[in-house]
Amino acid sequence: MEPQAYKNWIAGVFDRSAESYGSKHSNFFTYFAKNLVKLAALPKSASVLDVATGRGAILKHAAEAVGSQGKVIGIDISPNMITQTSKDLKDYPNITLLCADAENLEFTENSFDYVFCGFGVFFFPNVSRALQEFFRVLKPGGKLLISTWGKDDYCDEIFQDCYNHIEDDTKTLLHHFENPEFIFNILSKSGFTEIETVPDELDYVYPTIDDWFSSLWSHARRAKLEKLPPTQLTKLKEQLNIKLGPHVKSDGLHELLHAYYTHASKPV
Ligand SMILES: C[S@@+](CC[C@H](N)C(=O)[O-])C[C@H]1O[C@@H](n2cnc3c(N)ncnc32)[C@H](O)[C@@H]1O
Repeated sequence: MEPQAYKNWIAGVFDRSAESYGSKHSNFFTYFAKNLVKLAALPKSASVLDVATGRGAILKHAAEAVGSQGKVIGIDISPNMITQTSKDLKDYPNITLLCADAENLEFTENSFDYVFCGFGVFFFPNVSRALQEFFRVLKPGGKLLISTWGKDDYCDEIFQDCYNHIEDDTKTLLHHFENPEFIFNILSKSGFTEIETVPDELDYVYPTIDDWFSSLWSHARRAKLEKLPPTQLTKLKEQLNIKLGPHVKSDGLHELLHAYYTHASKPV
């Protein structure tokens, strides 16, 4: 798919998932956002850019950390993510939201003390270009913090297994970012130094398999489900129920979510 067409398609997928994104059965994004912001140890009054902000999981915590003298800007390519998040965060005077592309930032160089990007980098068709943009807008000594997914849990493996008969021409860079060495190399090629990646994991429990399945519609997995006609979708759901059934415990279906947090610096 041609890069601009790919970006339009991704924006559409997230437009349609925006209302349920991060809600009830996919609120694990809040957990990872909170920890990423904690890792940054943001000082009061800092200026922060959050790229691919989604429903503002990072923004909210960053705005609270930097206080009223600080400035926090969130950008996202999905207009509906920006609309929904602007409503949620209307009471935060230090937050600004803009619909924009990570690969073409409209800010002047050396504008921010911190750039965040939570679970976003693998969606950018030209990730090196986006990283160069992050580098450009950071002040010397400024910090970049990104989160990416680690290896798949059995829920994902079973999903892929049941889905893999369906042709998929829209793969993201997700699997490259499951490798800390890849993250290190791509960041260092963009000029970043002091690069460190730390793992984290969350044992997330869905009360039922249906709750897990409906959560898939609220994030990027939706892209795969949207491709299926209703009959294939029903068949997929039936297969998933059969394969996941034996894994359900007394409190529900456990999914072990593996993530990486990477922090890096723009040299002084
Ligand atoms: C998985 S969500 C992550 C949202 C949020 N950072 C979080 O941690 O919950 C990925 C977001 O990346 C956005 N996105 C994808 N491609 C983008 C691009 N080229 N520029 C800006 N945002 C983009 C999507 O619209 C979506 O909101």
